[in-house]
Amino acid sequence: MKIGLIGATGFIGRHVARELQARGHSVRAFGRRHEELDRLGFPRSVTIRPRAFDWSAHLGGLDAVVIATGALGGADMIKAHEELPRQVAEAAAGAGIRHLVLVSAIGASLDAPTAFLRTKAEGERAVLGQDRLGWMVLRPSLVYGPGGSSMDFLAALAAFPIRPRIASAPIRPILVDDLAAAIADILESEETLPATVDAVGPGPIVLDDYVDALGRWLGVTPRLVVRLPLSFIVRAASFLRLPLVNEDMATMLANGADGDPEALSRLTRTRPSDLGQGLARHPATPAERRMAALAPWLEGLWLSLGLFWIASGLTALANMESGRVLLAEASIGGRLASAIVLGGGLFDVALGLLTLVRRYRRMAAIAEVLTVLLYTALATLIVPSAWADPLGQLMKNIPIVMATFLLIQLPKR
Ligand SMILES: NC(=O)c1ccc[n+]([C@@H]2O[C@H](COP(=O)([O-])OP(=O)(O)OC[C@H]3O[C@@H](n4cnc5c(N)ncnc54)[C@H](OP(=O)(O)O)[C@@H]3O)[C@@H](O)[C@H]2O)c1
Repeated sequence: MKIGLIGATGFIGRHVARELQARGHSVRAFGRRHEELDRLGFPRSVTIRPRAFDWSAHLGGLDAVVIATGALGGADMIKAHEELPRQVAEAAAGAGIRHLVLVSAIGASLDAPTAFLRTKAEGERAVLGQDRLGWMVLRPSLVYGPGGSSMDFLAALAAFPIRPRIASAPIRPILVDDLAAAIADILESEETLPATVDAVGPGPIVLDDYVDALGRWLGVTPRLVVRLPLSFIVRAASFLRLPLVNEDMATMLANGADGDPEALSRLTRTRPSDLGQGLARHPATPAERRMAALAPWLEGLWLSLGLFWIASGLTALANMESGRVLLAEASIGGRLASAIVLGGGLFDVALGLLTLVRRYRRMAAIAEVLTVLLYTALATLIVPSAWADPLGQLMKNIPIVMATFLLIQLPKR
């Protein structure tokens, strides 16, 4: 079959593409990021333009369409959950597409307690409203597998020396391979399809069981276990600006992500693996183990880098006289010296504040490396003896530059 896959750059989309290609189908991948589609090796991919994208011009000749777009919040959430499925459903109906699968989420409902699930329900309504046989909605519970951002996040939690225990209602995680296989089965099916089907693993478990299983998968055991209310974790995570954790996520965890464990087996040939089997199908690679161990400390490094620049800027502002004394050694005095010390202090504080904002932090880190190099070069010219300072006044700049380079080098996603 010729299958259009929308959201091909996402976690679920990538696995669905691999499954469909392995079964000999031809995939037309749709995504917003052309370079990412290329990196993933999709031939004949289509880049979705943010404004005025004509879906009907790109769906012709396809036998089936899978929509696997989503976002956890922000403007993208409405676009990916409501607007895009509506536009695709209208164009797909016009193009006579035989099969369409929308990847929604368990608990989607127009009166759900979270915007995430309400927007999902709007997308479902747009697709099912076309009233086509062979079009359906799949509602996964938590999906896990290689490259999944929730799994990466919780694996980092499992690898952290202090393990918070988080109370959650039951969830039935499903392995992404099983979800992808079920989607492929559905697209290949000639049977009459139900409108909506739960896509869940055998479960049920609670989130703590899942984190423990990830710990075993990584081969780590927590050194200290603490019980923390979910509200505290959400507050801490939003202070650290961690992606994935927000009020909606907390509400969904508190309500659980349970569903009918037999639903997929009744409809498809896929028999979802339990969590232990699923994780064993993808033993943790050295890179995954290293990343899980590093991730919390990298966030800590960003935070401490930002605070370091703010503190050093404030120290310079509070102690302007020593800055002027230093500049006097280079024969710079008077108003110019005061302006340099004041400007330098404010600049450092600004860099530190930008480092705390996820969107700007990489740009700030580049400026910080350049600034440290400049400060170090100037200090070397003015007071070369600082290199011999027993507290390592200038020597410290070497590991600071290295650590900042490390953060700059990390891939954005
Ligand atoms: N993962 C889970 O545990 C889970 C559980 C239940 C339901 N789901 C649902 O399954 C779907 C896919 O999840 P996932 O884990 O694969 O998410 P993901 O890795 O974040 O991928 C989301 C995909 O949607 C695309 N996208 C986001 N906003 C878009 C927009 N405005 N226009 C076009 N494309 C947009 C992304 O494109 P870019 O790459 O360009 O950002 C990406 O391809 C979502 O609807 C999610 O709610 C996931």
